[in-house]
Amino acid sequence: MKHKALIAACIFFITVANAGKAQTSIDLDVNPGTSNPVISKYIYSHFAEHLGHGIYGGFYVGDTSKIANTNGVRNDVIEALKKMKIPALRWPGGCFADTYHWKDGIGPKDKRPSIVNAWWGGVTEDNSFGTHDFLNMCEKLGADPYLSGNVGSGTVQELADWVQYANTDSKNPMSDLRKANGRETPWGVKFWGVGNEAWGCGGNMTPEYYANEFRKFSTFMANSRGKSKLFRVASGASSADYHWTEVLMKNIPSDLMEGLAMHHYAVIDWGHKSSATAFTKDEYFETMQRALFMDTLVIKHSAIMDKYDPQKKIALVVDEWGGWYDVEPGTNPGFLYQQNTMRDAMIAGATLNIFNNHSDRVRMANLAQCINVLQAVILTNGPQLILTPTYHVMEMYNVHQDATLLPVSVNSEWYEHKGQKLPAISASASKAKDGVVHISLVNIDPDHQHTVSVNMHGAKFKDISGRILSSAKVNDYNSAANPDKIQPKAFKGATMKGENLSVVLPPASVVVLSLN
Ligand code: AHR
Repeated sequence: MKHKALIAACIFFITVANAGKAQTSIDLDVNPGTSNPVISKYIYSHFAEHLGHGIYGGFYVGDTSKIANTNGVRNDVIEALKKMKIPALRWPGGCFADTYHWKDGIGPKDKRPSIVNAWWGGVTEDNSFGTHDFLNMCEKLGADPYLSGNVGSGTVQELADWVQYANTDSKNPMSDLRKANGRETPWGVKFWGVGNEAWGCGGNMTPEYYANEFRKFSTFMANSRGKSKLFRVASGASSADYHWTEVLMKNIPSDLMEGLAMHHYAVIDWGHKSSATAFTKDEYFETMQRALFMDTLVIKHSAIMDKYDPQKKIALVVDEWGGWYDVEPGTNPGFLYQQNTMRDAMIAGATLNIFNNHSDRVRMANLAQCINVLQAVILTNGPQLILTPTYHVMEMYNVHQDATLLPVSVNSEWYEHKGQKLPAISASASKAKDGVVHISLVNIDPDHQHTVSVNMHGAKFKDISGRILSSAKVNDYNSAANPDKIQPKAFKGATMKGENLSVVLPPASVVVLSLN
């Protein structure tokens, strides 16, 4: 939020810098070298905060609900997220994390104290969804839990105790308490956030002050970890705050930090975010500018990290990303409930391509947020579950999880709008363990189809198949009345022409090809 002017200047530069290209061509070498990075599956991770109906009504309905559930967690949600191959889930915040005291959420539910959610709507929560509920749910999902610790209003002891509670088996007070609460074996949680947005809602700290806090918290977390290896994520920069990254990389020893976060939302302006559905063509273009700016952010933050960590041991964790719009009319402004259109599918496809292409440094990213909040993959309406266009992109792209990156060089045609230009096409490619090559392509141009010529350097394939997500208008979405309006369909627009693969991408479409 703090760096709007700088972002606008940078966006203008990347928008005009590549003017004059004539047609889209992609160069792809399908034979990976030994140094090609593996695209971490954790790039496809998600985020669930105690915010609006993200947890309560979203994941969790309680075990007395008429909605089919297991220990209070919706069965349809579990099924949908497993199908999408959710690799990890971050919880309980966000800003909420730095107000959360985990010991309030364990033990008998009727004895748990309530909490006022100071950041999101001022609602009172009964803490019925706590540590056991979340970690057991992650086991059901087959997803790694990512616990976001309280640095802002918590203590070093409190976070160290949480690590001990979740991860140790030896005789100690926290392990005994866990067992008394019904869980014999530790969960072995690997991912731990050490505060959230420490520059803002996490305590309004300076980077120098936070770096010292991080060193202290991180040290005592390690002392409590038992046999589990921890992946500790430092609270990172807001968008283009490169100074924050510089100070943290300089002041935190690499043996205390496994990941450094960065948050960036595709928001037009915090004072004018635009309707989630009734957005104009100007607003669409501006949203795409903000989303594609992620590439510059990743390159620049990575360059700073390279100075201090040339071997790339520390991951850049894009802890929160996605589109942020006005809430749906009539809903609580503090609940951040927004619809999800083909614009969101464009953000998702293009952003995931960026992460794939920088997977040497970006090794985790969490879309904000999983259910009913911001750019959600699932919306719930009582017993009904709606899969959004973003869900379908995430599901289509899951073929890249843990596959070897095949670098692509994209020379894109332009998406032009009122004298401004953005590259219309983005792409990324990978080779799966079974040898299948996958190429994901996005055409963000809402008005024109684009033909893409992929130079395969003589590589031969017996089968080319694919799926496409598209709709008549970028404003289209899946609603309670029409939940299946937008769904992936078989794609027939790819053909081999000599050495080149030719792909016709309709306006505002996402395509994933499989080459066998
Ligand atoms: O995702 C919503 C909020 O955005 C998170 O709580 C916070 O970390 C960020 O500012």
